[in-house]
Amino acid sequence: MDFPERFLWGAAGSAHQTEGNNVSSDLWALENSPGSPFSERSGDACDSYHRWPEDLDLVRDLGLNAYRFSVEWARVEPVEGHFSLAALGHYRRIVEGCLARGLTPVVTLHHFTSPLWFQQDGGWLGSGAADRFRAYTRAVVPILDGVEWVCTLNEPNLLAMLSSRISGGSGGGVAGELPAPEQAATDALTAAHRAAREELAGKKSGWTIANQNFQGPAELRDAWAWPREDQFLAAAVDDDFIGVQAYTRVIVGEDGALPVAGDARRTLTGWEFYPPAVGEAVRHTAACAPGVPILVTENGIATADDAERIEYTTGALAGLHEAMTEGADVRGYLHWSLLDNYEWGSYRPTFGLVSVDRDGFRRTAKPSARWLGEVARANRLD
Ligand code: BGC
Repeated sequence: MDFPERFLWGAAGSAHQTEGNNVSSDLWALENSPGSPFSERSGDACDSYHRWPEDLDLVRDLGLNAYRFSVEWARVEPVEGHFSLAALGHYRRIVEGCLARGLTPVVTLHHFTSPLWFQQDGGWLGSGAADRFRAYTRAVVPILDGVEWVCTLNEPNLLAMLSSRISGGSGGGVAGELPAPEQAATDALTAAHRAAREELAGKKSGWTIANQNFQGPAELRDAWAWPREDQFLAAAVDDDFIGVQAYTRVIVGEDGALPVAGDARRTLTGWEFYPPAVGEAVRHTAACAPGVPILVTENGIATADDAERIEYTTGALAGLHEAMTEGADVRGYLHWSLLDNYEWGSYRPTFGLVSVDRDGFRRTAKPSARWLGEVARANRLD
């Protein structure tokens, strides 16, 4: 199975999950509050704030050609209106680090976490949220010189579903089971996305959607999927690309999302082991937003058994290739995640191609990392 020329093969991470000590963010406050719903705090994470050159070296040495990371709003604007030149300089160095290594940077502006001040003033439902996100985006644009791909908001559909609870964090469970978002949250996120895209004129910008592969009787499925997913795809029909993020599937019945079947094979997050997810998500995205290029910005598996990661990803790439053969315009595949990083409440579900020792942050590439690197170098899956 050959992939197109200039196909992006990469790995992904996000600031809060990898950098450590994101102290001005809403999630840091929640993780460290007495009533924290999480079993572990992010703490130092993988210390990528200091070790990012090592991370980039790994990506390059494995044979991958792209790296997705996020800029942290809480670091760039720790207090409303105060933009930290030092934080912007940090992210500029990562962009330059990618370019110097021949890696295509895929930059996300918001990956679940927000500055605490933003959250305390109403978050996405607060007044002026879109203008605040626009101002932050405007401050980041100058450091994006040489960056082609920019994701505005990561999984706005999940953010919308969570926005009446906490701002950010999947916190376990299958996202597709969550109650439908308030329309006001969806509208606010859509407005923020559009404002950011205006600031990003000249770049390829889009948002990345948590695709749940809703299945079941068409009418029930469509009614369940529209507020949780499909309206976010419909809002992206004029975007430069759509980011597809898919891990599993959710079956919808008369009473909504059904729990994962008792006898189903599961991953460490409790999700059904379902390699066809990404191919099906790509098909669904292409049907909802015909002609819009697709970038797989996340796909992977939480497992302690690395052979299972290779098994899952082989199936995922075969399904992706099939969807592309049928006509889907897919520009790249970014595996989630590069590192065993903070999984929104715990370090236990390990999604990484590379393990990180929790005491000294030492990185060790797993066999799956080398395997994916070989697929990338060959631009072909055997
Ligand atoms: C998120 C990642 C997360 C991954 C696995 C996606 O929802 O963008 O931050 O770690 O799924 O749960």
